[in-house]
Amino acid sequence: MNDGSFKVRLMKADDFDAVVAIDEKVLKARRPEYYEMKFERLVRSRDYVPASLVAEKADGTVVGFVMGEIYMGEYGIFQEQATLDTLGIDPDYQHKGIGKQLMDEFVGHLKKLGVQKIYTLVTWNDSKMIHFFGSNQFTPSRTINLERVL
Ligand SMILES: CC(C)(COP(=O)(O)OP(=O)(O)OC[C@H]1O[C@@H](n2cnc3c(N)ncnc32)[C@H](O)[C@@H]1OP(=O)(O)O)[C@@H](O)C(=O)NCCC(=O)NCCS
Repeated sequence: MNDGSFKVRLMKADDFDAVVAIDEKVLKARRPEYYEMKFERLVRSRDYVPASLVAEKADGTVVGFVMGEIYMGEYGIFQEQATLDTLGIDPDYQHKGIGKQLMDEFVGHLKKLGVQKIYTLVTWNDSKMIHFFGSNQFTPSRTINLERVL
């Protein structure tokens, strides 16, 4: 558990640079185009309701984020399923409970909107992420992802 010194709030367009920087620190590769697309949907799309949060220090520095979406069905009714697409904690702030705090608030936020199930994809041999999701009550899904290389 962290000592409550990190605050979780909804992500806003201004968080773009901080999110891209954390992602780069985690993956050791820069991918601003991916986040440009994600942020475009965050602020503009009418079909998807953003459910993205950031964790920040008392001085406002963003140290972690989670990005997800809820599909908005016909007549503006929320679907019962949501996705968790991207999650990252600044390596200097990992193992302080920030990931769990973000996850708990993400789940609480979605529950209030009527969501009953959250889907996410993890690389099959990414043991760190699988462990993290496992300790946050995620279990293997009953569907499997198929692909065909062309
Ligand atoms: C996986 C990840 C999200 C975990 O975030 P985190 O903030 O470190 O997670 P938590 O602190 O909530 O939990 C991690 C561990 O720290 C432990 N922990 C929590 N608070 C702690 C504290 N105060 N002191 C010591 N350990 C603590 C937790 O018990 C947990 O231990 P466990 O792994 O043995 O169960 C983070 O490591 C990450 O961003 N990884 C990279 C993700 C990635 O590859 N993203 C690419 C884009 S999708």
